[in-house]
Amino acid sequence: MKNRILIIEDEPTMRLGMNHFLSSAGYNVKTCEDGAKGISVFEKESFDLVITDLKLPGYDGLAVLKRIRTVSPDAGVIIMTAYADVKTAVQAIREGAFDYIAKPFSNEELLIAIERFLKFQKLEDEVTYLKETLREKVEFEEIIGVSSVIEDVFDRITSVAGTDVPALIAGESGTGKELVANAIHRLSKRSTKPFVKINCAAIPETLFESELFGHEKGAFTGAAEMRKGKFEFSNGGTIFFDEISDIPISLQSKLLRVLEDNLITRLGGNSLIHVDVRSIYATSKNLKECIESGKFREDLFYRINVVPITIPPLRERKEDIPHLIDHFLKHFKEKFNKVELNISQPAYDALLSYSYPGNVRELKHAIERAVVLSKDGLIDVKHLPDEISGTDAKIPCITEDLSLQESVRCFERQKIIKALNESGGRKIEAAKVLGISRRVLWKKLKEYSIE
Ligand SMILES: Nc1ncnc2c1ncn2[C@@H]1O[C@H](COP(=O)(O)OP(=O)(O)OP(=O)(O)O)[C@@H](O)[C@H]1O
Ligand SMILES: [Mg+2]
Repeated sequence: MKNRILIIEDEPTMRLGMNHFLSSAGYNVKTCEDGAKGISVFEKESFDLVITDLKLPGYDGLAVLKRIRTVSPDAGVIIMTAYADVKTAVQAIREGAFDYIAKPFSNEELLIAIERFLKFQKLEDEVTYLKETLREKVEFEEIIGVSSVIEDVFDRITSVAGTDVPALIAGESGTGKELVANAIHRLSKRSTKPFVKINCAAIPETLFESELFGHEKGAFTGAAEMRKGKFEFSNGGTIFFDEISDIPISLQSKLLRVLEDNLITRLGGNSLIHVDVRSIYATSKNLKECIESGKFREDLFYRINVVPITIPPLRERKEDIPHLIDHFLKHFKEKFNKVELNISQPAYDALLSYSYPGNVRELKHAIERAVVLSKDGLIDVKHLPDEISGTDAKIPCITEDLSLQESVRCFERQKIIKALNESGGRKIEAAKVLGISRRVLWKKLKEYSIE
């Protein structure tokens, strides 16, 4: 879409010239010869940018500026001015004009001023967008769950949040460790200070130390500037070490020392810098095993394991699943503007009975996908990933905590789906393979809601 520019200029040659040049440069241009007309056009149509002369008959450029700022603060105003008027132009900037260009100016100068504004506007839009997504994220970061194990997690969060003791969050991938870390920070007195995250699994060993503690200029080849590390950035706030088992063993004793005396030294520097930081750790690996295999220092483990918070996998707290389904359905229905959307019983049952090796993240993504794929106001089994809908019969849904009867049903359902798949959906053939009558197969299809 072309950017729209309004030019207000009383001098006809100038007006026509600018119109011609900017139109051929690809802008959608409109011109007016005085302030009053300019304002009235601006109020009827929308423009990205207004370029107005300062000296105009009737309403002058400053009056135009004021009006535009009140009607549409997002639109930019560039003031054209003669050299003698630079003082007024500066005043215009104070009152919200984006820039001024002194007459006479070349087409090139005009273009530069316009492009500078459009770039600024684009950045501003991006910032607004990011802020909004951030807000959405924060609002969304409600931890859903009713199981007693999740209640325990809530208790731990609230009791640890008000203190500065380290918290160690353990749980399989996708169980919500980061969510819990966020919650602790948000509920703490440090909530308005930075929450700085370090993904220990993602930082190459050679860069780790400088990432944590920063470096002085010239500390190593390539260190052209002084750089602060994450510890300094999180000063006053919280530092979150994700996948702490991946921190290089060579750095573990250094980290331990910092945790003990709250002093850091930038790489290549020698002054001690005091940092006031609360630390939270997450791990999906068993740290005791890492200690046994020599990858993790025992002393560091005892230092960080003051308040352990363990989040059990989703398959061990099935009573949370319906609440999570409802929560994510509501969220994604709103997000994708499908508030009227319903879910079919078979699809709902499939979501309920799946074992979720990828935990809450897997459930969340499945629902997001289903909402996106759904048609005609209904989420059906076919909108779910194969492993959840049971079409992919290789993946067992039987887990240790299912009762015997549930396991049998689950197995039976899978066998039937497999037979149907292999017979290309022909029920007579499938019944033969399964060694049951057609009538029994029909009954079972209905019972298990298999399409
Ligand atoms: N109890 C919960 N309620 C609502 N959303 C949750 C819950 N648990 C996890 N989630 C969501 O699931 C996704 C995964 O959570 P998170 O990133 O915190 O997991 P993780 O344990 O840090 O996983 P990984 O080890 O892979 O980093 C996130 O989008 C999070 O919002
Ligand atoms: Mg995580």
